[in-house]
Amino acid sequence: MARLSNRERWDSVPEAFVAPGMATQPTGEYCDMVLKAQQNPEAFWLQQAQRLAWQTFPQAASRSDFTGDVLVQWYPGGVLNASESCLDRHLHTQPNKAALIWEGQEDGQREVLSYKDLHARVCRLANTMRRLGVKKGECVAIHLPMVAEGIIAMLACARIGAIHVVLFGGFSPEGLAERLSDSGAVLVLTADVARRGDKRIPSKETMDTALLRCAEKSRVQHVLVVPVTGASVPMHVGRDLNYAQEVAKEQPDCPAEPMQAQDPLFLLYTSGSTGRPKGLVHGTGGYMVWASFTHAVTFDHKPTDVFWCTADISWITGHTYVVYGPLANGGTIMVYEGLPSWPQPGRWWDVIDRNGVTVFYTSPTVVRAAMREDSAVLQSRSLESLRILGTVGEPISPEAWHWFHDEVGKGRCAVVDTWWQTETGGVMITAAANSVTPRAGAASLPLPGVEATLLDTQGTVVHGAGEGLLCMARSWPGQAQSIWQDHARFKQTYFTTCPGYYFTGDGARREADGYYWITGRVDDVVNVSGQRIGTAEIEDAIATDHEVVESAAVGIPHDLKGQGLVVFVVPRAQGVFHPDAVNRAVAAGVGRYAVPEKIYVVRDLPKTRSGKIVRRLLRKIAAHDLDGLGDLSTLADPDIVQELIALVGAQG
Ligand code: WTA
Repeated sequence: MARLSNRERWDSVPEAFVAPGMATQPTGEYCDMVLKAQQNPEAFWLQQAQRLAWQTFPQAASRSDFTGDVLVQWYPGGVLNASESCLDRHLHTQPNKAALIWEGQEDGQREVLSYKDLHARVCRLANTMRRLGVKKGECVAIHLPMVAEGIIAMLACARIGAIHVVLFGGFSPEGLAERLSDSGAVLVLTADVARRGDKRIPSKETMDTALLRCAEKSRVQHVLVVPVTGASVPMHVGRDLNYAQEVAKEQPDCPAEPMQAQDPLFLLYTSGSTGRPKGLVHGTGGYMVWASFTHAVTFDHKPTDVFWCTADISWITGHTYVVYGPLANGGTIMVYEGLPSWPQPGRWWDVIDRNGVTVFYTSPTVVRAAMREDSAVLQSRSLESLRILGTVGEPISPEAWHWFHDEVGKGRCAVVDTWWQTETGGVMITAAANSVTPRAGAASLPLPGVEATLLDTQGTVVHGAGEGLLCMARSWPGQAQSIWQDHARFKQTYFTTCPGYYFTGDGARREADGYYWITGRVDDVVNVSGQRIGTAEIEDAIATDHEVVESAAVGIPHDLKGQGLVVFVVPRAQGVFHPDAVNRAVAAGVGRYAVPEKIYVVRDLPKTRSGKIVRRLLRKIAAHDLDGLGDLSTLADPDIVQELIALVGAQG
């Protein structure tokens, strides 16, 4: 496959920045960056490295190579510590500036940590971890709700060179156990109990069960329990320790471990096409440059901003835009523990007004839910502090985009849709605020230095307007380096579909002037409310029920969640099987968040003669989209299709 020549790369994007008839012309500075990054990426990315505090400045930008064994390597020779870039250097220039504003979900719970306070709290925990025996290069699991300690824990790991693995609070004990064993975490931080509106989530109890499940494979020595509600929870003597008591014993200063640029900063598990979640490894130097660069450029960062990214820290969005990007840039981050509409609708708007939030970065699911509320909810709030709005995680419909722009932004805020992935570390395609004219519903343009490309299924580059598999022709600093303990899987997953390119797993359409529209995943990953769920993970969990012969999970369009999960299940004995068994198996194996929308108990699944399930057909049948089912004669049992159509039609 031919690689893109410079001329072709040039053709694929920049005209859009100077296209006539644009409502706002992009600023010269942004155009300048696009051109510089294209003409001399090495020089451009070395210059961007100056955004960080290095102990030794790198000798080169990239030694990455998408061929052969695949190497993603940024800033060789560079030595730094991510927590120094986020804390220490701001400590000298703005010690009393608010680094973190935290609001709890109960009335009146609010705390403001200056850079000095945050630094001290990170250091106390870093010292605690060192005392508990955590070494550079070892993994620490963080299983916490949106409390300041979650962010403090990430930075404390970075400080001592431990690799953090943030685990989602919604995982079942099984899901946690799998990730604890795979990462080899030696320390866990969890909460006594987490709050979600009226609900209480027994974090410690869930973690205890998880640790029992993986007892033989786990390397966990200690569990630090953060008192979130103060509830009393069982403590295992010798293993479990109270966070508050332990950090109180330590000094508020702790030397930062010098790290090579490519030393891992964190692992983050995400779903793919197979059942086993993969731990993507992000290095320190490249990731931090990307976090800082993309935060500054996408959100047109200003020192006076109060930046609120509503993502949970267990998501890559929470890593890059709750923690590392804004703090590296010396910003003020807003962290809110609770739900958008609890205890009453409009709670998030109150958080914005009370704290003077200037940038509000959330998901299309949140926007769609807010659109459904009584308009009085929004009208009774001021929202005048806002200047930029953003979304991430799934496509935003033009209708939702306009509502966000007109009603929340009152027509005066830039709205940025941002396309990116756990694997990309930070934003890749967007209409950077106040630099690129957005188009409602489009992800828009690749950031400077991002060489987005479309390939057809034969692996040929699509030029100009067209549709295809979204790939990257060249590495960028935020790119994940590998999959934890499984580089072969990394290569296989991302670099074999389109050899020589990074394959994103998404499809996209490009307009003649370079604007990208994401059409969705082309693999077996479903995106429910922005949460990536591998259909294979669901099927593996269901397979643990011995009454099930096989199952197939597919995604269908969903008004509120973007996509919903539908499961077709073939039981051993028809008539006696209850679909609740599927829900139980998914809740136990994956977590309640992945419980399907709809379950159809069926006699068989549509398969090719070689026994491969034809998911394309299941997707169409489940979505009641019966046009263009195609040639069914190649199926092992063509009659099954009509049977499924009738069943889905009857059950709705
Ligand atoms: C999807 C989230 C359309 C996409 C940061 C991608 C999007 C997957 C958008 C990554 C967007 C994310 N428009 N689709 N703006 N943002 N996606 O790893 O399918 O949780 O591959 O990272 O979400 O999900 P992940």
